Amino acid sequence: MKRTHHCAQLTKADLGATVSLLGWVDSLRDHGGILFVDLRDRKGITQVKFDPQANQELAAQAAHLKPESVIGVIGKVVPRPEGTVNSGLPTGEVEIDATSLTIHNLSDTPPFPLDDAGGDKVNEDLRLTYRYLDLRRPKMRKNLQVRHRATKSIRDYFDAQEFIEVETPALFKSTPEGAREYLVPSRIHPGQFYALSQSPQQFKQILMVAGVEKYFQIARCFRDEDLRSDRQMEFTQVDVEASFIDREGIYALFEGMLQKVWKDVLGVDLPVPFPRMAFVDAMNRYGVDKPDVRFGFELADFSETFRSSGFKVFQATVAGGGVIKALNAKGLADLTQGELKNLEDIAKSLGAKGLAFIKSEGGEWKSPIVKFFSEAEKAALTAQLGIADGDVVFFAAAPWEKACAILGRIRLEAAALLQKRGKLSLRADDWKFLWVIEFPLMTHDEAENRYVATHHPFTAPVPEDAALLDTDPKKVRGQHYDVVLNGMELGGGSIRIHQPALQKKVFEDVLKIPADVVESRFGYMLKAFTYGAPPHGGIAFGLDRMVALLCGTTSIRDVIAFPKTQKGQDLMAQSPTPVTARQLKELHIQTVMPE
Ligand code: AMO
Ligand code: AMP
Repeated sequence: MKRTHHCAQLTKADLGATVSLLGWVDSLRDHGGILFVDLRDRKGITQVKFDPQANQELAAQAAHLKPESVIGVIGKVVPRPEGTVNSGLPTGEVEIDATSLTIHNLSDTPPFPLDDAGGDKVNEDLRLTYRYLDLRRPKMRKNLQVRHRATKSIRDYFDAQEFIEVETPALFKSTPEGAREYLVPSRIHPGQFYALSQSPQQFKQILMVAGVEKYFQIARCFRDEDLRSDRQMEFTQVDVEASFIDREGIYALFEGMLQKVWKDVLGVDLPVPFPRMAFVDAMNRYGVDKPDVRFGFELADFSETFRSSGFKVFQATVAGGGVIKALNAKGLADLTQGELKNLEDIAKSLGAKGLAFIKSEGGEWKSPIVKFFSEAEKAALTAQLGIADGDVVFFAAAPWEKACAILGRIRLEAAALLQKRGKLSLRADDWKFLWVIEFPLMTHDEAENRYVATHHPFTAPVPEDAALLDTDPKKVRGQHYDVVLNGMELGGGSIRIHQPALQKKVFEDVLKIPADVVESRFGYMLKAFTYGAPPHGGIAFGLDRMVALLCGTTSIRDVIAFPKTQKGQDLMAQSPTPVTARQLKELHIQTVMPE
């Protein structure tokens, strides 16, 4: 079963050679009794010819072939006749005159076409059910290769920087501060559970106490979250931690990593340093902490303009401590009633009371609300938003965070509508990286009336803000940073707290976690910090997200060999499944089904 060549190899230089190829029947064409088979392996395609005039028995055998069957072929490399050369294929000038055929496996008819275009049209559930067929498609094969390339490039980079890869446990303990965890029952300890690691966060910090100094890991993480196109329950992080490093050191280290990956995988030179944007500015200008800065439509604040406005909705919002924000979606005045209604529904789903707008068309402003605006208010809008004919302006009147979130989303939706019209072009390969920095260390959880860590509770405060921890925690900025690319959060991390007293204070005095709970969840860490903990910091990148962007796809499912569906199912192997009563008994578990 030895092959002499792969299917993207043979050229005119091989004419006359007898070769042996292995692979899958990509397609079959019968040209007046002569059968042409496109033979495919992981590298490419070679055309094989079965001619009944040359060998009737062999041609009769080949006539039984079906697409996707696995065969071995021996034959002679011959030139393709004039006019039948395929310049699109590396092997397009030659074909194989078959002298022997071995059928290793005769395939049933696949449930969907395995070419890129055909496969893209079918329902993703079908592709996931037959993932082994889906992965035969050129596009999917390329995605797996890009993932391998990127991972290797990352390992080489950190190795060259003298980082070592250390594996940490997937079976960890439950620390319910972060995302919801997966629990694993212990057979040996009845009633006790492990939790699958959400990230190696605590272990990598302990490795710093252990003196490793430079750690990285391509680490599998598990989170019981609602799944989306950029979220899986099981995903991979490029996880890094280093001792004696500050924020500038992290920025430089990771700009270097991304430069290498983009160069190795795409041949692209990324300019560094990446721009940096404070969290407050990202929110004020783009309405999100992961801005897509490939296009404008920046949010502007009109709270002062409308403080004593005749338009009561705006005036009352400002009086109540809220803000008036607006953005100009340039060129979108032709939006349809249906599109407008859809935008309004989106705004309302984010808590908006409405979505006030102004369409600037035919030299006048068409809007249900301008009749309430003074000349000065209109002038302020025109001046600040540069309103021209054909534009549409959207408003949000709400508390600051909500107004940002609403218009942040409307901005993206408006851009999508303009892209559909061909009036805006956002290229996937327009690599607009940026660091978002100076996040607040704590966020106030209104529902629970307590502070929660914006990133996680191990993030160190910005030194000059540390004193505010006692007096005004929400004003404290954290030494946290995110890497954002074209509207996607690629990675995030921070310089950590390494002093046990400060860490205890954050847990107990700021986050109000009871002392006994702190002891049982994090006692070992606090203790470790009393035995010589170096200053340290790190970051974790979503490998799946990074590879998706490198592949130009918006769904991380396309770059994971065996992903789960949005409903958390493996449609191929069929999981999750019920287990036997005996298994449950052994684990000391009883199940209670929902009503
Ligand atoms: P964080 O929770 O921000 O940080 O995660 C880091 C990065 O992991 C990716 N990511 C995901 N990718 C796919 N599916 C998911 N469900 C998912 N959740 C997160 C994102 C994100 O930016 N331990 C800290 C890092 C640190 O402080 O060093 C952490 O896990 O790209
Ligand atoms: P109303 O006076 O409530 O009929 O609102 C007039 C216009 O303002 C409608 O187009 C509403 O959708 C819009 N609107 C109402 N409340 C808000 C708000 N909080 N933010 C933005 N637009 C609003």
